[in-house]
Amino acid sequence: MQANIVVLPGDGIGVEVVTAALAVLEAIGRKFGHEFDTEEYLIGGCAIDAHGTALPDETRQACLSADAVLLGAVGGPKWDDPNAPVRPEQGLLAIRKAMGLYANLRPVKLHPDLIDASPLRPERLAGVDLLVIRELTGGLYFGEGGRWVENGEEWGKNTMIYSAGEIRRIAKLAFDAARGRRKKLASIDKANVLDVMRLWRKTVAEVAEDYPDVELENVLVDAATMHLLSRPASFDVMVAGNMFGDIITDEASMLSGSMGNLPSASLGQHLNRHGKPQGLYEPIHGSAPDIAGRGIANPIGTILSLALLLRHSLGLELEATAIENAVDQALSDGVRTADLASDGKKSVNTQQMTAAILVHI
Ligand code: IPM
Ligand code: MG
Repeated sequence: MQANIVVLPGDGIGVEVVTAALAVLEAIGRKFGHEFDTEEYLIGGCAIDAHGTALPDETRQACLSADAVLLGAVGGPKWDDPNAPVRPEQGLLAIRKAMGLYANLRPVKLHPDLIDASPLRPERLAGVDLLVIRELTGGLYFGEGGRWVENGEEWGKNTMIYSAGEIRRIAKLAFDAARGRRKKLASIDKANVLDVMRLWRKTVAEVAEDYPDVELENVLVDAATMHLLSRPASFDVMVAGNMFGDIITDEASMLSGSMGNLPSASLGQHLNRHGKPQGLYEPIHGSAPDIAGRGIANPIGTILSLALLLRHSLGLELEATAIENAVDQALSDGVRTADLASDGKKSVNTQQMTAAILVHI
């Protein structure tokens, strides 16, 4: 097959991990006889430096007409001034919105050999295999917000807002995903305090009527963060709004040993030239300014995001599985980037980890 993939390395380690994923893409293309045409565009801080905006028009246009988009990370201390008029993160939010990517899928699995890398005790980790589905184009991230001065005091606000329709479509997607797995869905909310979350709980309950085979558990977000540590293996699919989903996936990522391992797929309704959902794929980690430029970042989250891209946006299941197996094998071989290495153990750099994965493709 031929596919057009837009590549957005972004800032910091985004550039390093995307380079790694592109080496894997090339190997897959060669092995399975596909033509993957990739084109790089600017987003985030580097786009602010070059064009004064975090999402230049040409990047937006390229993404909208691509079969799929692969992204590294955005942001960094250079653009962190709280009074700056533009921020790198705005580029990411704007492209998610422009592409209509309302569903962010974040699978969390633990490779058995990485049990030591996780801060949790091994007996707690046995059987961890969950999928967090985060609503991505609504909620607190996209409600009315602003900063102003009144009565000699500075003010700031953001609004958490959802329509029943927005809740319904993400809930349906989550119930469908649960149906294909262990048939359990935990809906994360704060219905004891927030009006918008009472609408969330009510709407999820309505959707649940069409899924009598799926067991629904409503969990308050504060309790959910606790249960993720005390009984992580009890969760199958979790569905949450934008803000809560952002928070619980950073926590959940540590169940896999490191946040650097976790991929994500953002999907919407728009279909690409192959009749598959157009999507944006990115690791859940950020630009990691503390290690950027040193070539030691863990590329696994981005390489696994590439596997999700091949599966969801191109329908290339064999190729996706080949990548996932290669990552598993590299980890079974004992290869570890610094974030995964136990104290005092030898670690490899980004290139070496990528090479260790490539030998299995
Ligand atoms: C994520 C990130 C982003 C988010 C930031 C970089 C805007 O934390 O994808 O989880 O908050 O959505
Ligand atoms: Mg986040």
